[in-house]
Amino acid sequence: MNLQKPLTRSSVQLKCRKSRTFSLHVRATAALERVDQDREVFSDANGRVIRPMVADYGFRSGSGRLYMEHYGETPKGVLDLAKSNFQQELLQMRQYVRFGVGNSSQTPNGAIPQVTFKMGTAINSVFKQMDEFLESVSVLPKLEQPEKKAEELTEEWEEIREKLTKLKLDNQAIVEVEKARAARGEELYTPFWVKLPFLFLCLVLDVLYEGKPIQKFWVLETVARIPYFAYISILHLYESIGFWRAGAELRKIHFAEEWNEMHHLQIMESLGGDQSWFDRFVAEHSAIAYYWLLIFFYLVSPKLAYNFMQRVELHARDTYAVFVENNKELLETIPPPKVALSYYLNQDLYLFDEFQQGSKVTPRRPSCNNLYEVFNNIRDDENEHVKTMDACEKETIALDIAKEKSSRR
Ligand SMILES: [Fe+2]
Ligand SMILES: [Fe+2]
Repeated sequence: MNLQKPLTRSSVQLKCRKSRTFSLHVRATAALERVDQDREVFSDANGRVIRPMVADYGFRSGSGRLYMEHYGETPKGVLDLAKSNFQQELLQMRQYVRFGVGNSSQTPNGAIPQVTFKMGTAINSVFKQMDEFLESVSVLPKLEQPEKKAEELTEEWEEIREKLTKLKLDNQAIVEVEKARAARGEELYTPFWVKLPFLFLCLVLDVLYEGKPIQKFWVLETVARIPYFAYISILHLYESIGFWRAGAELRKIHFAEEWNEMHHLQIMESLGGDQSWFDRFVAEHSAIAYYWLLIFFYLVSPKLAYNFMQRVELHARDTYAVFVENNKELLETIPPPKVALSYYLNQDLYLFDEFQQGSKVTPRRPSCNNLYEVFNNIRDDENEHVKTMDACEKETIALDIAKEKSSRR
């Protein structure tokens, strides 16, 4: 199927790989529809039909995420959750060190990434021997090679997975974009002690994720939405203890920002960004550290905390801009993930509009026909976060909110 030309008829025929033809009556609501045992299509509010990616490549594929099984259920108690999570991750860790499950590392380019890679391989070998020893003395149960899921055996699944592994990100090109911005006099001033954790994050990502853009984006998105949690926590605290009650509107904007970043994160998950036990370990522990760091920044100076986040969002925008340029042709041949369709083409775009202070008069309504458009949308979202963080730092956000309210009257 041509991904560039979505169908627009109210009743369409689709042909799947197995040469079976089926009809679909398109509803006038944005939704995913199952048209075959192993195939869904998405129809937007205007009746356009888009075929999403054949499978979800994420660690939590199928359940435990937004728009999937168990979505909206209330969680169990923390002890139950911790137990099942640690059990699952222990198994994943063992499969990672013993069989390389989820480990897509290849010898990277650059001296520092190569040294880190060699160190990682040596540490992995020690853990492998330890695991084999503990298994031999029956401290750990016998470990089997995991079996492939049914969808992993299809030709289409393999074809798209192959394409995803070919995606590239030129780190030097990102540095050039940032230098060009500074040369235009648009460099953001940030005190060194605030800039330091940002530089550390960039260094870790560049060294550990050289040649692995989707995994890098997944880690970046995990950490980069944390500041919004921190801002909401402190604003809530100030309201609860009576220090500051004018921040409720800000909390709403930060929640909408976090909701947007969560969708970026889940798009990266659906592309397989969270498949590696090691990447989940790095991202989730870094997220805890960033939460407390941003709590401290926001307590000391909200302006600096917003400045920090503007810098992170600028970096994300530049990184995605280089990525879409580097991979345009390939991305255009990959269908959009379901989660991207459910977000960008949703009938209810209240939260999507809410975080974009600069675009409320003429709301953005991006298209989502292939992965190239999805990444363009993510880049543009990051740019909207930059503008919103700038308005928060310069305290013009109150004016923006008032303007938007009067335009609604
Ligand atoms: Fe993002
Ligand atoms: Fe972002």
